Amino acid sequence: VSPELQSMLDAHELLQKFYHHLLVNTKDGQHALEYLLNRGFTRESIDKFQIGYSLNSWDFGYKFLTKRDFSPELMEKAGLIIKRERDGTYFDRFRDRIMFPISDRNGNTIAFSGRSLGADEPKYLNSPETVIFNKSKILYNFHLAKPSIRKLQQAVLFEGFADVIAADKSGVENGIATMGTSLTEEHITLIRQNTQSITICFDSDKAGIEAAFRAGNMLIDAGCSIKVAMMPDGLDPDEYIKKNGPEKFRNEVISASLTWMAFKFLYFRRGKNLQIEGDRLAYIETILKEISKLTKAVEKDHYLRQLASEFSISLEALQQQLKQVFFTEK
Ligand code: CTP
Ligand code: MN
Ligand code: MN
Ligand code: MN
Ligand code: MN
Repeated sequence: VSPELQSMLDAHELLQKFYHHLLVNTKDGQHALEYLLNRGFTRESIDKFQIGYSLNSWDFGYKFLTKRDFSPELMEKAGLIIKRERDGTYFDRFRDRIMFPISDRNGNTIAFSGRSLGADEPKYLNSPETVIFNKSKILYNFHLAKPSIRKLQQAVLFEGFADVIAADKSGVENGIATMGTSLTEEHITLIRQNTQSITICFDSDKAGIEAAFRAGNMLIDAGCSIKVAMMPDGLDPDEYIKKNGPEKFRNEVISASLTWMAFKFLYFRRGKNLQIEGDRLAYIETILKEISKLTKAVEKDHYLRQLASEFSISLEALQQQLKQVFFTEK
C-alpha cells in the first residue's frame, strides 16, 4: 500500500472512531442516538457496525483531520472534505448525519454512507468513488457476513443498510447489500467465490420487486440458485422486523422464501386481473415461456401441472402449447 492510500485508510479509521464516540458518548450526538434507538437499532448493533454521528458543523471533520497532519488535498481525494471553488477553503462532506462505515473485504473502512435524521435530501449521502472506494465492487457487510455465508452456503441480499443490520440482530448474519446501486457482475463474482446460493430479500414495494426481478435474472445467468423472500404490505425487512419480531422474520420470511419460479408466477401477475380472459391468456402464455426455459423435465412437469390446476386447463392442452412456444421462441 502506498503512503497516500495508507493515509486515506488511516483517516477513515480515525474519523469512524470519532463519529462513533460522538454518537454514543456525547450530548451533541444524543438526538442521533435516540433516533436510532427509536428505530429499533440496539446498542449491540450500533457497536458491531460502528455506527456514528457527524456533527452539525461545516468543518469539525476538516479540523479533526488537519490537526492530525492529514493533507487537505488528500482528504479531498478521499471524499471526506470538499473544496470551495470560490476561495479554495474546505468543508466537510458529512454534516449532521448518522454515519455508516463501509468496509472493504479486509475490514478497512474505505467510505461512509450518511443518513439524514429528518427529511433532508438525499436520505443517504455516500462517499464519492475514490481510489479506495468503488461502489460496483463493494457489498455492505461482506467482511462480517463472509464466515456465515461460507458456513451456511447461503447469502441473503438486501436493499439497504438498515435491513442488513436489523436482520443481523434477528440472527440472520449472512446478509449483504449493494450501495444503493444495482447489482454488478463484480458483485456477483465476489458472492460466487463464497456460495452459489442466494436469497434475495429486497423491499416488497414496486421498486424492490422490480429490482429483485433484475437481480435474480443476473444471478441466474451467472449460474446461481435463487430464492426470493417477500414481506406483506410493501414492507421492507427492517420495518417488518420492527413490527413482527425476529422469529417471524426468520420463519415466515427467510425460511419461507419463494423459489425463483414461484416468484415469477407472482411477478407476472401483478397489475393483471386474471378474472378477465385477455389478461388470463396473456399470463398463461408468459408463464409457458418461462416454463419452456427450464431444463429439467421434472420441473417443467411440476409447473405445468400447477398452471393446469390453477386455471382448470387440461395438462394436454398446456403441453401442446408449450411445444409451440418452444418453436416460436428459438
Ligand atoms: N439509497 C441511497 N440514496 C437515497 C436513497 C437510498 O443511496 N437517496 C440507497 C441506500 O443504500 C439505502 C437503499 O438505497 O439503504 C435502499 O433505499 P430505501 O429502501 O429507500 O432506504 P432504506 O434502506 O429503507 O432506508 P431507511 O430505512 O433508513 O429509510
Ligand atoms: Mn462502542
Ligand atoms: Mn426501497
Ligand atoms: Mn427500504
Ligand atoms: Mn427502511
